[in-house]
Amino acid sequence: MNFHKKGSLKGIVTIPGDKSISHRAVMFGALAKGTTEVTNFLQGADCLSTIRCFKQLGIEIQNDASSDSVVIHGKGLHGLTKPSELLDVGNSGTTMRLISGILSGQTFAVSLNGDSSIQKRPMGRIITPLAMMDADIVSLGEKGCAPLSINSSGERTNKLKGIHYHSPVASAQIKSCVLLAGMYADSETSVTEPSLSRNHTELMLTQFGAKITSQGSTATILPNPNLVGQKINVPGDISSAAYFIAAGLIVPNSELVIKNVGINPTRDGILRVCQQMGAKITLENVIDNGGEPVADLVVKYSELQGVEIGGDIIPTLIDEIPIIAILACAAKGQTVIKDAAELKVKESNRIDVMVNNLSRMGADITATEDGMIINGGKILHGTTIESLADHRIAMSFAIASLIAEDDMIIREAECVDISYPNFYSDLDNLCR
Ligand code: S3P
Repeated sequence: MNFHKKGSLKGIVTIPGDKSISHRAVMFGALAKGTTEVTNFLQGADCLSTIRCFKQLGIEIQNDASSDSVVIHGKGLHGLTKPSELLDVGNSGTTMRLISGILSGQTFAVSLNGDSSIQKRPMGRIITPLAMMDADIVSLGEKGCAPLSINSSGERTNKLKGIHYHSPVASAQIKSCVLLAGMYADSETSVTEPSLSRNHTELMLTQFGAKITSQGSTATILPNPNLVGQKINVPGDISSAAYFIAAGLIVPNSELVIKNVGINPTRDGILRVCQQMGAKITLENVIDNGGEPVADLVVKYSELQGVEIGGDIIPTLIDEIPIIAILACAAKGQTVIKDAAELKVKESNRIDVMVNNLSRMGADITATEDGMIINGGKILHGTTIESLADHRIAMSFAIASLIAEDDMIIREAECVDISYPNFYSDLDNLCR
């Protein structure tokens, strides 16, 4: 797809539903008794993979894509049934890791697989704690990757074992996987992470009726909850909003309003970093949306300064680091991003992909073991971008194209369908 420099961004954009929250609404709705009604559901390919998997597990789900509303007819904690075929999670790491925790507590055998990117992403990180819980889960792929097979040695009759897992990485997918398996355990299950990752599972499962306590970076769940269907209005995804925040900040004379953005403190690191960089962003209409705070953001073009980012803030902006790298190129001075080695095991190796593509555009950027160093202020030139079908890479370079000197091509640009199907038209509507 072709991209070229554009004038200022003006107007209003309403951000589609949060990917993490949309996945969880379907999963928890399936395990609850009664009906769960979800509004502002994200119609991205990843969330549709979750719907498809739960339909295969015997759950009736109606998805009205014209109104972004989904109705899930849950069957309770023990209501899933054996699928007739392998479950295909597509490109979705969240689906694979969270569903594995749920499936480990079922009696039936089931196999899971996904696309070529999923088959390279580490699953040992969930197999290890699940095996400690006495789950029967094995990797059939290379280096502990998908395909995965659960309960292949025969029907499970006993409960899982409650554990206290000390996760080596801050990851909401690992934490959620273990907590979900903990619902099928014989005693309480805790997860402690090095820093607190996004807490949507803890918030939403509590709303459904589970008993979860959180203290610092430790979450604990009691087994065998009685989950009851809920009404969930999904806030807009701050990870999707991040592209427009960046566009507004770096394209001269821009001023835009980004409506309905989830600003949960475990997700709002991008706002804190932008403020540190000198960004003019104000929050309006802040409301509580069922435990998940939401706001409208007013973003104005700003002269940005480089920053140093590392430590506990990293899990709160992990998916925004590619677009932060673009901001850093437009800023004056040096930006150092560290403690972000997790970027290497996302939909692509996001350190390598950002450094390779931005270097070819003329940026001064160096990869490090756990992040990157960027000396901002260099003129960016157009080139052909290899997105490696990673949605966050494609969207980041679509924003970079707004300030690049020459035309650009982004390969496999249609991969934005994973998390933001209307991204390019929403961007076009803002550009003057
Ligand atoms: C997610 C958690 C994060 C994030 C991913 C969605 C989730 O992954 O990168 O896009 O919904 O739990 P990790 O838990 O692997 O950090």
